[in-house]
This record gives sequence, structure tokens and C-alpha cells, in this order.
Amino acid sequence: MGKRRPLVAGNWKMNGTRAESAALLDGIKKGVSASSKAEVVVCPPFILIALVAEKLAGSPVAWGGQNLSVHKSGAYTGEISGPMLKDYGCTYVIVGHSERRTLYGENDVFVAEKYGAAQATGLMPILCIGESLHERESGQTEAVVARQLDVVLDKHGIGSFKTAVIAYEPVWAIGTGKTATPAQAQEVHRFIRQRLASRDKTVSESLRILYGGSMKGSNARELLAQADIDGGLIGGASLQADEFLTICRAAD
Ligand code: PGA
Repeated sequence: MGKRRPLVAGNWKMNGTRAESAALLDGIKKGVSASSKAEVVVCPPFILIALVAEKLAGSPVAWGGQNLSVHKSGAYTGEISGPMLKDYGCTYVIVGHSERRTLYGENDVFVAEKYGAAQATGLMPILCIGESLHERESGQTEAVVARQLDVVLDKHGIGSFKTAVIAYEPVWAIGTGKTATPAQAQEVHRFIRQRLASRDKTVSESLRILYGGSMKGSNARELLAQADIDGGLIGGASLQADEFLTICRAAD
């Protein structure tokens, strides 16, 4: 990890009542101190962001959205914009999560627009990329990741990655309990960093690349020990304070 500040982000997905979320936040707050080396972020469902903002105000834990509209405001029923997230103190927003891509038809171009919308609002996009099982088994992992990355690079430029985070999330590892081995993950992280380095080495060296996909307390340490893995995007394990804090400590 070295020069890059580790980042552990919890993606709560569509989970949590207000009471459950308040208890989870209390647990997380107890375990994260201002002197923690790792930066800690939670990404709750939109409707819980106000609660999260209230509970986490003044704590070292930051928060973000799981998605955003490409528009700032207007007649877009059911959507939430970047400025709205910003208004509630969000500093991050997940963009192009594989569930958005596969279940809600978000393609590379649309994801790149969302990435731009996030940055235009001053939110740090956590850009998710990663291959499916079929793509991995047919030897297309690098081609898929490169394509997902290049659409964003071509539209927004390498400079935009100064204010972005990438999450490499192999789709076959998300919510399946099947984690990529540290070596498998490192191989792709390294590929991503090298691809960006071919455009700008300084930007590439300072960019944080998170691993996501069944990361938990018991496997975080060895994943985070890899040279190009700078943190994690955590789904299931972010819903239990103990488990999430074990990962945060591993990132420290
Ligand atoms: P998981 O989800 O940790 O439950 O596999 C990760 C993610 O989807 O970001």
C-alpha cells in the first residue's frame, strides 16, 4: 500500500431499517478513531443518508451514495442527483456497480456519464469495474476491465483519476462467498494500474484501487497485503460492525 492512504468503503446495498442502521453506525463509530490510518466510508441506501449524516457528523467516518443521476435536477422521477447527495454531506458515490450494470442496464457510456456527474458535483466517484465468471473463464478479464476503464478515460481523461477511486470487483465474487485469491486480485489491480500509468504514471501511482467481492474479516489481511490493493469495497461484511471493523483494522 505504501504511499496511498487505504480506504475501506461499506456498500450497504438495499439493507437496513433506521434502528438497525443506527446500531450499526454506533458500532462502527466506536471502532474508528481520528488517528486511524485507513479512511472509512459507508454508503447507505438514499433514504438513510440523512440519518447517517446526523449520526456521523464530527466523526472520522465519511459517507456516500450508492448511485446518482446524470442530471442535476428536474423531471426525473425516482432519481437522486449529485447536488442532493452533496447537500447531505456525502463525499463519495459508487458508480457503475455490477448490480447497476447487470440488473438496471447501465452500460459503460452511461457509467462514464455518472462518473462525470459525480466529479462535476465535487463527489469522489468509486468507479466499479470487473468481469463476469463467463468472461474470466473465456480469458477476457483484461479485455473487459480495459474496455470499462477506457470509456471513462477517453471521456474524462487521465487527470480525472486524481479525484476518483477504482473498485475492482470480479462479478463472480460479489455476494457469493467466493473471493478472488490475493494473487488473482493483485494481477488485475496491477493490470489496471499499468494501463493508467501508460497515460500518466504519477496519477496512476497515487490512485487508490479497492478490491471488492466477498471481502471479510478473515480474508482482508492477505488481500490488503498485495502491492496494488489499496482497500476494499465491502458488501455483506459491512452490515456487521465487528466484521467491518476487522477489515478496517487490517487496512490500518
Ligand atoms: P460483497 O459485495 O462484499 O457482499 O461480495 C461487494 C460489493 O458488491 O461491493
